[in-house]
Amino acid sequence: MKATFRIWRQDTPNGQGGFKDYEVDGLNADMSFLEALDHLNEILVLRNEKVVAFEYDCREGICGQCGVYINGRAHGPHENITTCQLHMRSFEDGATIVIEPWRADAFPIIKDLIVDRSAFDRIIEQGGYISAKTGTAPEANAIPIGKEISDRAMDAAACIGCGACVATCKNASAALFTSAKINHLNSLPQGQPEAHKRVLEMTAQMEKEGFGHCTFTGACEVECPEGISIVNIAEMNARYLKAKLFS
Ligand code: FES
Repeated sequence: MKATFRIWRQDTPNGQGGFKDYEVDGLNADMSFLEALDHLNEILVLRNEKVVAFEYDCREGICGQCGVYINGRAHGPHENITTCQLHMRSFEDGATIVIEPWRADAFPIIKDLIVDRSAFDRIIEQGGYISAKTGTAPEANAIPIGKEISDRAMDAAACIGCGACVATCKNASAALFTSAKINHLNSLPQGQPEAHKRVLEMTAQMEKEGFGHCTFTGACEVECPEGISIVNIAEMNARYLKAKLFS
């Protein structure tokens, strides 16, 4: 299988970037997308050219590090998968595949396809934790929590912080990410001691990082590989109002 990879190349954060085409032969349909990029890099090493910088860790849809724009969609053409879960069989033999980094002021490019997503870490630092002393690990079913609540918390906890929501939003808003992290903890009894503080401080940090405002277009929900619902954003807004009134 062959493909032309049209890849954004940028050496330094403030350098001039641009697309460069690479015709790659010897691919096969069962390769993951990241393996196809590995294959390209092996070719570049043999040619004594600079390899393409891209980010990954788990390569199984857990860590959220591998996000790139592929043919104009975050994580490529399929729903509910990350870039590392995408396979070359999703593309026609001989296709031209355009690969770009996330584009958002709050996610500056470090090199090629790698962006700095540490703004997400700073939002988490403002409240994405609980102070409840849990002692040794309790039996999982010892804290009674209604199924509806635990399902809601678990759905929000599925966010892997990949940044696709920001990259795909026309306002580069981080509302889906921030709301998932807030609702995960604020839904549960263990999250109550800091509930108001969490929503106020995490949203304040989100603003400070320069993410755009949410206008509820729903694009983030469509491209989120974990299927996080925009209902989380409405819930975060309600929690915010409550925190403003009662804290
Ligand atoms: S490399 Fe971890 S989610 Fe893709």
